[in-house]
Amino acid sequence: GDQVYKYYADGEWKKSASGKSVSIVNPTTRKPQYKVQACTQEEVNKVMEAAKAAQKLWARTPLWKRAEHLHKAAAILKEHKASIAECLVKEIAKPAKDAVTEVVRSGDLVSYTAEEGVRILGEGKLLVSDSFPGNERSKYCLSSKVPLGVVLAIPPFNYPVNLAVSKIAPALIAGNSLVLKPPTQGAVAALHMIQCFHLAGFPKGLISCVTGKGSEIGDFLTMHPGVNCISFTGGDTGIAISKKAGMIPLQMELGGKDACIVLEDADLDLVASNIVKGGYSYSGQRCTAVKVVLVMESVADAIVEKVKATMAKLSVGSPEDDCDITPVVSESSANFIEGLVMDAKEKGATFCQEYRREGNLIWPLLLDHVRPDMRIAWEEPFGPVLPVIRISSVEEGIHHCNASNFGLQGCVFTRDINKAILISDAMETGTVQINSAPARGPDHFPFQGLKDSGIGSQGITNSINMMTKIKSTVINLP
Ligand code: G3P
Repeated sequence: GDQVYKYYADGEWKKSASGKSVSIVNPTTRKPQYKVQACTQEEVNKVMEAAKAAQKLWARTPLWKRAEHLHKAAAILKEHKASIAECLVKEIAKPAKDAVTEVVRSGDLVSYTAEEGVRILGEGKLLVSDSFPGNERSKYCLSSKVPLGVVLAIPPFNYPVNLAVSKIAPALIAGNSLVLKPPTQGAVAALHMIQCFHLAGFPKGLISCVTGKGSEIGDFLTMHPGVNCISFTGGDTGIAISKKAGMIPLQMELGGKDACIVLEDADLDLVASNIVKGGYSYSGQRCTAVKVVLVMESVADAIVEKVKATMAKLSVGSPEDDCDITPVVSESSANFIEGLVMDAKEKGATFCQEYRREGNLIWPLLLDHVRPDMRIAWEEPFGPVLPVIRISSVEEGIHHCNASNFGLQGCVFTRDINKAILISDAMETGTVQINSAPARGPDHFPFQGLKDSGIGSQGITNSINMMTKIKSTVINLP
């Protein structure tokens, strides 16, 4: 109907004074599904002030109590999985079962973060001075981790809940306050998730969620003097943010072009199932999707045949029906993907299936014999389209991987563990998976990109540490 979802500030649900709203289009029906408030800069200012004040008290709230709140929020989140998942289905066309999985995984992430926080923040360090030349044992240094202040979290559309809580939970356990700017597609799922934190009884102003147009509040938020840390996941916008942001810690994850290197001795069935899972789950809209297959010529025909056979089993249709391949997030995204496909076609790539598109729905496509002069060899489609480049040496594969401006993850398939380790060492990416498709999880593993793929490292432990600063007190003996 005409309902406009309210934004969350000062522990309350509010209408924006702008009187304006932002419309969220359902990727499947391509019709408006929801509306959210278009918050103003004045409202952002108020949120920042409240966040600053609330943080001071929160930092003095005992760690075990902060953890208790998070455990409560995690439980409530899981109780509300069905209604949140429904939003994910309508807003971002995530297949129904994956949408539920995202919420459950998020609850688990929040609980794990609470436990990890209690352990790692419950420990400090004691240093003594006489190890450094010229010193007596006359100084004792006590150091521990303290919060940064206000953390700004900006998650992307593909995991509006999970990549929000992966920023919210570490920020809160570490004693920070949190301002969330959800993606437009996924904003309503994020608001429902925030309601779970609201029900968990966090203090007023500690958590807020502002919705609105990037053009109105985007730069205003990221350049706001009240922000002490930004955790962002998304696309090129992150590069712009990192140039404009002040002297504050940044955590950025900005996409990838994850390569899958296949050696001659690989288990070909394992490779095929991982290429299909890695390349096409959530229709390829994952930073960690397999985005280019680099396969040794001698096994290329066999791999392509096996991948084609596995792809034939993928269901294509609506997220409500839990199809494997669902409409991509927007018409502009579908047009971009189509542009990459047409470029490859003109330049002579082999189409393993017929290219087919209806609205935002693009049928899964494997492109064989892709060459480096084609855009799809380098660009990230963020759609169900995967290029295969045939290589005549492992070095050629590593070279292609390292020539990318991205460096998120990669994977290598071989039965020779020594070769696999050497290749992993040679690949300039944050993570290399041996004999499995790239993936961020389990969520306590370190997760980081090199080059244009990001700054800093995520994963539960790293995020908690990143959202703190070391504070030391030195006792000087007379
Ligand atoms: O695209 C976001 C990135 O974090 C991927 O996560 O869990 O699909 O590997 P995951």
